[in-house]
Amino acid sequence: MIDAQGLEALRLLDAYPRRGLTIRSGRGMYLEDDRGRLYLDMMSNYGVSILGHGHPAVVEALERQLRTLAGLHGSFAAEVRARAAGALLDRCGGGLAKVFFTNSGSEANEAALKFAVLATGRKKFIAFRRGFHGKTLGALSATDGGAYRLPFEPLLWEFEFAPFGEAAALEMIDGRTAGVIVEPVQGEGGVRVPPPSFLGGLAKACATAGAVLILDEIQTGMGRTGRFLASSSEVPCPDVITLGKGLAGGVPAGAVLLSGRVARAVPRKIHTSTFGGNPLAAAGVLAVLSVLDDGLLGRVEGLGRELAGRLRTAAAEDAFEIRGRGLMVGAEVGPERDSVLRLLQRERVLAIPAGPGVVRFLPPYILEEGHVEAAVRAFAAALAAVRTSRRLNYS
Ligand SMILES: Cc1ncc(COP(=O)(O)O)c(C=O)c1O
Repeated sequence: MIDAQGLEALRLLDAYPRRGLTIRSGRGMYLEDDRGRLYLDMMSNYGVSILGHGHPAVVEALERQLRTLAGLHGSFAAEVRARAAGALLDRCGGGLAKVFFTNSGSEANEAALKFAVLATGRKKFIAFRRGFHGKTLGALSATDGGAYRLPFEPLLWEFEFAPFGEAAALEMIDGRTAGVIVEPVQGEGGVRVPPPSFLGGLAKACATAGAVLILDEIQTGMGRTGRFLASSSEVPCPDVITLGKGLAGGVPAGAVLLSGRVARAVPRKIHTSTFGGNPLAAAGVLAVLSVLDDGLLGRVEGLGRELAGRLRTAAAEDAFEIRGRGLMVGAEVGPERDSVLRLLQRERVLAIPAGPGVVRFLPPYILEEGHVEAAVRAFAAALAAVRTSRRLNYS
């Protein structure tokens, strides 16, 4: 009988790399495959399952909302949506005035770029080398990486790519700039942390030029780095923040948070979405926010430090760089990235790639020390196996 992988290969567009694994269910920190084998989830579905799989608060809230009302267009009001927007604004602080809900991270960035054009009357943007903001046309225009972009060029408006984390970016911001779009820590581009004051510098330069700073916190936000927003210490009063991934407990959702200045520039009806802000997603947002307290964020920071430290020890013999913030950790293993990922999977630990040579760990925040230990043991075993095969190839 043909299995799910075979059927997918026959029926689904061949759009994704294949991991050779059929996943049947998820519980807490583990995913179970179709043969009943358990895998330690160190990637949380590319950063989505921040509370692990089947978190009782999320399941209960979603079940209840599904029975009450799943969908409702934004032209009708829903209490759950209003509460979700309020709770998000409260958590983000810093003078943000309004929320626009979307269905994905890319869509949030699409909206944010349009809002920046409306707020400034300009169409020139600065984005960053190795930056990733999604693959829909607007978000793709801000995404670096020839392979994704080339077949579709020319893309939208005018985008210039600045070196990430360098002061040169500041000089590119001028009176023609509509906006700057930046990840506080680059994710897809290889888990790259900019130097302190980089984001603060961008915020100042944008304010001087009258440009809008779009902080793409789709991967770094919702507590991933140990703070609710990775940018908040440097940019206390942001113009625009985009969120996605774990925002609604696994229900597809994104959000744009806007300052009063930007919000006032967006006319009614110019940008809407049938599904955006549906009550099911709104209930997911409320459930996630109710769990994501300071205690949990503290754990993210502490366990992140422990994970990075132990991975560093495991990688010392190869001198691979380990970097990141909170539970967003990258190991720069170079051309053997795919072998390391495969070997980790053989050890029943799931991580994901980031950039050409980086293995990325984005575990759920419910991670415990024992899981850190197991992941590091598997990583050490994978590196040892790669070393052995390297030696065999040369002998
Ligand atoms: C920083 C960042 N922005 C945007 C996106 C796109 O989000 P989505 O895949 O939900 O459209 C991603 C996805 O990985 C991301 O990491």
